[in-house]
Amino acid sequence: MRLRNVKNKEEIMNNSNYLIRDYEGLKGNWKKLFKNDNPIYIEIGMGKGKFIIDNAKMNPNINFIGIEKFDSVIVKALQKIPEGLDNLVMLRADALNIDEIFDHEIDRIYLNFSDPWPKNRHHLRRLSSRVFLEKYESIFRNDKTIHMRTDNRDLYTYSLVSFSQFGYKLEKISFDLHKDDMPEITTEYEDKFSSKDMPIYYVECGKK
Ligand SMILES: C[S@@+](CC[C@H](N)C(=O)[O-])C[C@H]1O[C@@H](n2cnc3c(N)ncnc32)[C@H](O)[C@@H]1O
Repeated sequence: MRLRNVKNKEEIMNNSNYLIRDYEGLKGNWKKLFKNDNPIYIEIGMGKGKFIIDNAKMNPNINFIGIEKFDSVIVKALQKIPEGLDNLVMLRADALNIDEIFDHEIDRIYLNFSDPWPKNRHHLRRLSSRVFLEKYESIFRNDKTIHMRTDNRDLYTYSLVSFSQFGYKLEKISFDLHKDDMPEITTEYEDKFSSKDMPIYYVECGKK
């Protein structure tokens, strides 16, 4: 998702206490930033941030980091954060560099409506491909947990196979999340697809 240039983008980014522009030095030290040892959950490709902001509001004892690669998208998320939320930060970064940002300190990864990269020759760009699963290995603190939602059936089946081949145990799956177990918190894309009655595919998987 790339948005048209947002007016005052630089100003919004410069004035936000929630945006980490320079993460050098934070690797291995994220709990110092949050000033506690609570679990840290990240969403990679958070888009306009509804899911991660609502999660941070509802779960004060968990720290959340929203990661997004485009400035024009991240400013939209920054503008939505209510004052006083101290368990949330946002990071402008590409998932390709994730293993340079965290070192054994993440407890859960959310992959919500990740870009499907439909062409077979691009499959290693998918955030659930082995290229990324290898990178995630060194960012998890203990048990590795990934929760994924998508509208894209091909990405979903690809991801189920990719997770399994990489040693993840599929702990919960749904081919129609909103019929099986309606989540309390939804994402922007999820709202868009479910309003058109499209099924939301879901998997929670874990690895020791
Ligand atoms: C389809 S949107 C989904 C947004 C949000 N998670 C939701 O469900 O509403 C995918 C988002 O992932 C971001 N993204 C894609 N590849 C990324 C990467 N390698 N690193 C960080 N963000 C990425 C895109 O810029 C886009 O904002």
